[in-house]
Amino acid sequence: GPTRYEAESAVVSAGGTIDANHAGYSGTGFANGANAVGSYVEWQVTGPASALTFGYANGTTAARPVDISVDGTVVAAAVPFPATGAWTTWSTVARSVSLPSGSHTVRVTATTADGPANLDYLDLSPEVRAS
Ligand code: GCU
Repeated sequence: GPTRYEAESAVVSAGGTIDANHAGYSGTGFANGANAVGSYVEWQVTGPASALTFGYANGTTAARPVDISVDGTVVAAAVPFPATGAWTTWSTVARSVSLPSGSHTVRVTATTADGPANLDYLDLSPEVRAS
């Protein structure tokens, strides 16, 4: 199954916080990135992986897009994190990725002044191998 990297263990850019005031998150909290363009949350992960799945909540009515980068290269631009209906309603956004073996940096960077959604975790799905 997937390997989970909690957002409370991630790096959050200036102005962001690790919070625990909206129930239903995994682990001990979630990352509340600053409401600003360029606000980011960054995980150190170990490949290989074939997909990235982000747990998140967005209690507003507008999507919160982020660029997803791996080792500094944007692999998915302006990926919308749609409204979930409440800050306590958690959902997921997933993207396929070709992540080789070894250590990698996965960063999500807000592309709007709203900043990122509240981010709960990043799950890495193992590479699917032919049998
Ligand atoms: C509210 C909410 C935060 C959220 C913020 C936002 O303040 O309590 O958890 O991060 O809105 O709009 O980003």
